[in-house]
Amino acid sequence: MDNNWKVFEERFCRHLDELKWLYIELYGNEAMFDELCDSMRRFYEERNEELKISDLEREAQPDWYKKNDMLGMMFYIDNFAGNMKGVRGKLDYLEKCNVNYIHLMPFLDTVEGRSDGGYAVADFRKVQEKLGTMEDLEKLTAACHEKQINVCMDFVMNHTSEDHEWAKKARQGDEAYKSRYFFFDDFTVPGIYESTVPQVFPTTAPGNFTWLPDVGQYVMTTFYPYQWDLNYKNPRVFNEMMYNFLYLANKGIDIMRIDAVPYIWKELYTPCRNLPRVHTIVRMMRIISEIVCPGILLLGEVVMEPEKVVPYFGTVEKPECHMLYNVTTMATTWHTVATRDVRLLKRQLDIVNGLPKAYVFLNYLRCHDDIGWGLDYGTLMQEGIGEVSHKQYLNDYFQGYAGASNSRGELYNNDPLTKDARFCGTTASMCGIEKALSEGAQMGAPDLEQAIRMDVMLHAYMFMQSGIPVIYGGDEIGRLNDYSYKENPNKAEDSRYIHRGAMDWKAVSQIDDETTVAGKLFSQLDRLEKIRKNEKVFMAEADTWTIETWDQSVLCIGRYYEGEKILGLFNFSEYDKTAWINETDGMYVDMISDRPMKASGVNIPAYGFYYLKKQDVLGGDQV
Ligand code: GLC
Repeated sequence: MDNNWKVFEERFCRHLDELKWLYIELYGNEAMFDELCDSMRRFYEERNEELKISDLEREAQPDWYKKNDMLGMMFYIDNFAGNMKGVRGKLDYLEKCNVNYIHLMPFLDTVEGRSDGGYAVADFRKVQEKLGTMEDLEKLTAACHEKQINVCMDFVMNHTSEDHEWAKKARQGDEAYKSRYFFFDDFTVPGIYESTVPQVFPTTAPGNFTWLPDVGQYVMTTFYPYQWDLNYKNPRVFNEMMYNFLYLANKGIDIMRIDAVPYIWKELYTPCRNLPRVHTIVRMMRIISEIVCPGILLLGEVVMEPEKVVPYFGTVEKPECHMLYNVTTMATTWHTVATRDVRLLKRQLDIVNGLPKAYVFLNYLRCHDDIGWGLDYGTLMQEGIGEVSHKQYLNDYFQGYAGASNSRGELYNNDPLTKDARFCGTTASMCGIEKALSEGAQMGAPDLEQAIRMDVMLHAYMFMQSGIPVIYGGDEIGRLNDYSYKENPNKAEDSRYIHRGAMDWKAVSQIDDETTVAGKLFSQLDRLEKIRKNEKVFMAEADTWTIETWDQSVLCIGRYYEGEKILGLFNFSEYDKTAWINETDGMYVDMISDRPMKASGVNIPAYGFYYLKKQDVLGGDQV
C-alpha cells in the first residue's frame, strides 16, 4: 500500500464505526453502504496531488481558516466578469480587495427562466455553458490557490431542477426515479403537510406542492414549482448526492455552502425544518469529507433563529458544519440602522459572543437573498414593539417612506395574509448613497457624505464582529440597486434581482481617486481590511464582548487576543454622540487616524467609528 492509501485507510478506519452506525440506522442497507465506501475510495483516487497535499496541511492545522486575514467576497460569475475565464483575469483585483475567499454564486447547469438564480440545478456535473466548462472551473480554482484564494460554491442538495435527468425520468413514470422525489396522487397527504409546513415564497411560489398535469400527480416543491424536493429517505439519493459533492470537491473547491440545509428531511405533521435526521445527514457529509477531502470546509446555510442555527455546528466530538451564517445579527444590524437603537443588537452580539469559540460565524451586511426580519421579538415586545407593526416599519423605512430614512429598495414576498414582507436592496442604496446621487449630490455634499460614512461604519462594525466577514461583491465600490431586472420577464417577479446587478468596472477604474464614491469607499474599506489583516486581535477565535456605552445609538465591541486589546465604537445615528465608556487600563490609539486617545467619554461624530487599540505599556509602544 503506497503512502496515499495509508492516509486514506487511516482516515477511513478512524471514522468507519460512526459512519456505518449512522448510515445503517438511517437506511439499514449494507449494500448501499458498501457502494458508498467504494465510491469514496474512487473519489479519493481521483483527487489530484495538489489537493491531497493541501488536505494534509489543513489536517495538520485544523484552525487554518480562523485567521484574521480571512476575508470573503461573493459574486455572480456573469455579473462580475462574464465567465470563469473572466474571473481568472480579475484575480488581481480580488487581491487588491484583500479578499482570500471567493464565493462563486451558483454556476451549475440550469434552465434560463426556471433557475432561481442558479439554485435549480439541472446537472451537478456540468457548468452553465455561458460561464464555461468543468475544465475552466478546475483552472480557476488552481489559479486561485496559487494566490492563496479559497473558492466557495453552492451545493444545492434539497432539490433538483425539474430539468434534471432524475426528474425527467420520474416524470416519464420511472418508479426508481420517482422514489427520489415526493409524489402524491391527490392532495390528501400534501394537505396534511400544508397544515404544518410554512411557506418559503408565499407570493412568488405559494404552497409546498405543485400539480403536474402531464403526470396527474402532485410533487413536493418547497421553493419554486420547478425545484423538486429530493427524498433523502431513499439511500440512492443520499449516495448519489454525496458522489456529486465529492466530484465537485475534486474540482478544487475549498468551501461547500450547503444550501437550504434545514429543509432536507421531511416528516408529516412537522414543519419539515431542522428535523433530527438533517443532522444525521450533515454529520455523515462531514465524515465523508473528512475521509476523502478533509481540506474542505462546510458552510451551512441555515437562515433560522439562533437556537436553530447553533446545532448545525454539531458538538466538539461530532462536528457538523465548520461555519454558519450569522443571519440574526445581520437582520438586527439593519433594525439598528432603522431605529438608531443598538440595544437589541448588543443583546444579539452577547448571545453570539457567549458561544464556544470553536464556532465560526460568517458575518455579512448583504448577500444575494432578501433580508427576512427574523429579530428577537420576545425582547422587542417588552418595549411594546409588536412583530407585525415593526416589520411594517422596517419595510417602510428601508423603502424610504418612514422615519428619517434615506434608504432605497423594494419589498420581497409581500404576503397579504401574514403581512410578512422581506426586503431587498444593496448596502449602498440602503445607506442613502442612491438617494443622494439621484438628487444630484456631488462629492462633499452633506447627504452623500453621511451616506458614505454610514456605509463605511457598517463595514467597520462587521469586521469587528466575532467570525469571518464576507463582502457582497460590488459593495466595496458602492454598487446601487439595479432596477433593470423588471424588464427581464425571467426575473421581473423576483425583486432579489435588484441587488444582483452587474459589476461596474468603470467605477472600479476610479478606486484610486478618492473624489469619487467608489474611490472613497474602496480606500476606506481597504484601510480597515489591512488593519484587520495585520492585527492578530482580529483572529476568529479572539475573545469578543460588548461594553455598555450609556448611549442608545453607540455600540462598543471589545476584542482581546494574546495580550492585545481593541475597542470598536460605532455611532449608528446622524447625531454626534458620546460613548460613556470608562476603560482605565491605559492609553489607546485610534488605529484609523493614529491619534492617541483615552477610552473614556469618547465623542463620536455622526455615523463615525473608532478602532481603539490599547497601547502596550511594557513594550514601549505607549504614546
Ligand atoms: C437558498 C438560496 C436562495 C434560494 C434557495 C433555494 O436559500 O440562498 O437564493 O432561493 O436556497 O435553493
